[in-house]
Amino acid sequence: MMDLADLYRDVIVDHNKKPRNFGRLEQFNRDSEGNNPLCGDRLHIFIDVESDLIRDIRFEGKGCAISTASASLMTEAVKGKSLAEVRHLFGEVHDMLTRHDAPVPADLGKLAALSGVREFPARVKCASLCWHTLNAALARDAAPVTTE
Ligand code: FES
Repeated sequence: MMDLADLYRDVIVDHNKKPRNFGRLEQFNRDSEGNNPLCGDRLHIFIDVESDLIRDIRFEGKGCAISTASASLMTEAVKGKSLAEVRHLFGEVHDMLTRHDAPVPADLGKLAALSGVREFPARVKCASLCWHTLNAALARDAAPVTTE
């Protein structure tokens, strides 16, 4: 029988192999670039925000399996959400990735597949890079995001 760890691993493998919302967005009004200088991985996030809602979001770049899967899962999770909902979600994901004692909130859905990352401190930056890049884009911060 498949256990939760297997299920989570399958979600990450699937989103790495077939990243959702991958590629440049034709029409966007927010964007930001993020990189992890330790490995050279980078990503660029494009967002179309309208009336306080994330109408569309895509990303492109080159990253490890965790960073690609995390960006793919993130784009699925935030599309159609309000900026306030996205800020709330960021807080939940950040706690999930960094706090060993934090229970994984039930409303995280497929994002919970990344919860195992907190056992591997070096991979936390892989999973959080896209979220910090998203925040910078929404804040219209022009400085590239770095994990260091
Ligand atoms: Fe570079 Fe994961 S190894 S972001």
